[in-house]
Amino acid sequence: MAGMMVKNMSFKVGQTLTIVGVPKPDATDFAVNICPNDTDIELHINPRFNAHGDENTVVCNSCNGGSWGQEIREGGFPFTQGQEFKIVIQFSPDGFVVNFSDGSKIQFPKRLGADKYSNITFDGGVRIQSIEIK
Ligand code: GAL
Repeated sequence: MAGMMVKNMSFKVGQTLTIVGVPKPDATDFAVNICPNDTDIELHINPRFNAHGDENTVVCNSCNGGSWGQEIREGGFPFTQGQEFKIVIQFSPDGFVVNFSDGSKIQFPKRLGADKYSNITFDGGVRIQSIEIK
């Protein structure tokens, strides 16, 4: 499902990306993707309420040339349909730390290797309220 896309931006090593949104009342899952181009995904963050056989689980992965990598499933699940959430993503030289509002985190290594990402896309049952890079 193609959702919102932000292109030609610049999320660089040393910066922090904060995303605030609300999952739709009927959301099965949604995804935030940080991408170097229009096809690959460096960091896919996919909170699943009830999707792909998972319940209340956050799945992270990368996608290179159409192939998904190894999933990382860590952290808590501070998401509720219809309630505002905040995800804070820190970009360090060796990868990303995805911080959730319950204090849990997912560490995700740099897989595609760029120091700068230009596209952020949002898919599935979510309404995004703000995106901030600092
Ligand atoms: C797949 C799913 C993709 C993506 C991927 C992550 O099962 O269809 O949308 O979430 O898992 O590994």
